Amino acid sequence: MVNQLTLIRPDDWHVHLRDGDALDTTVPAAAKYFGRSIIMPNLKLPVRNVNDALFYRQRILRHRPKDSQWLPLMVLYLTDDTSKKDISEAKKSGFVQAVKYYPAGATTNSASGVTQLERLDPIFNEIQESNLILQLHGEVTDQNIDIFDREAVFIDRHLRRIKEKFPELKIVLEHITTSQAAQYVEENDQYLAATITPQHLLYNRNDMLAGGIRPHLYCLPILKRDIHQKELIRAATSGSKKFFLGTDSAPHVSETKESACGCAGCFSHHAALEFYAEVFDQADAMHHLEAFASINGAQFYQLPLNKSKITLVKEPWTIPEEIPFCGSQLIPLAAGMALNWKLRLP
Ligand code: NCD
Ligand code: ZN
Repeated sequence: MVNQLTLIRPDDWHVHLRDGDALDTTVPAAAKYFGRSIIMPNLKLPVRNVNDALFYRQRILRHRPKDSQWLPLMVLYLTDDTSKKDISEAKKSGFVQAVKYYPAGATTNSASGVTQLERLDPIFNEIQESNLILQLHGEVTDQNIDIFDREAVFIDRHLRRIKEKFPELKIVLEHITTSQAAQYVEENDQYLAATITPQHLLYNRNDMLAGGIRPHLYCLPILKRDIHQKELIRAATSGSKKFFLGTDSAPHVSETKESACGCAGCFSHHAALEFYAEVFDQADAMHHLEAFASINGAQFYQLPLNKSKITLVKEPWTIPEEIPFCGSQLIPLAAGMALNWKLRLP
């Protein structure tokens, strides 16, 4: 039985740090585990160009713990008005790695997202030319498409066409939630990969909806039925290079989630790596954890692997019921639950 695992320090390829006071909590939490984090640009005023990214990056770095080498990797938010110049300047900056597509209205702070994906072709072409990464929030938002089908419909309606038209565009399908997404990514070429979150590996929609509604499990794309959860576990723990760690940790103060119209997003950075370790251990796949957490993403983004290492030990602990956040509190993912794995702090 494995009781300890040392691995190359992992990276998080999808996180929401927010801004202002939130950074007091989110930046040290990210730096505790990760070498680098891909910082989602969906602030109230989204990160639309290289200047926004530069200033946001500076605000983030002011919160980095003194002894930490952790680096934020910045992302531009695509809108109907994004220009080719925005993309080429982002590439030149050296600190912007990717460009994120949110369909307008799909999720938290996506009001300025794209209204018609087809109109982005010239921008996709520029992203391909610049060798930046295109990150997709892969859901359609049509009112007549059931919320549980929105990812699968996105693949059929949009992703197949984008892949055909831009064969060398490097695409990450973010936070995948369905067997359709896992299989589509797995069977596709090396220009397509996917991130998988802890919540989509640990839970299915019964956990959120059966026996009472649990708003702290509400995130987007929404949790699906258990067959999809099983397929995600299979894909993540398979050793395939196409899947990597992206927590999608997305904090909201508890009042905004426990409300008549609650926000989408789960905070998972209190146990970011331990959640994955739990899943990999249960699947008898601890030997694939390092590739998923520390290698596959860096290779896809064409970045060097981190030089330092971290160690996980099998040591039971209990997740806190709540965490102070922005003058209030948030309820962390799996609050009050016991975990078997723990990061060993130096
Ligand atoms: C994210 C957030 O809160 O910013 N929420 C979520 O449910 N995942 C946005 C997103 O990634 O969709
Ligand atoms: Zn997200």
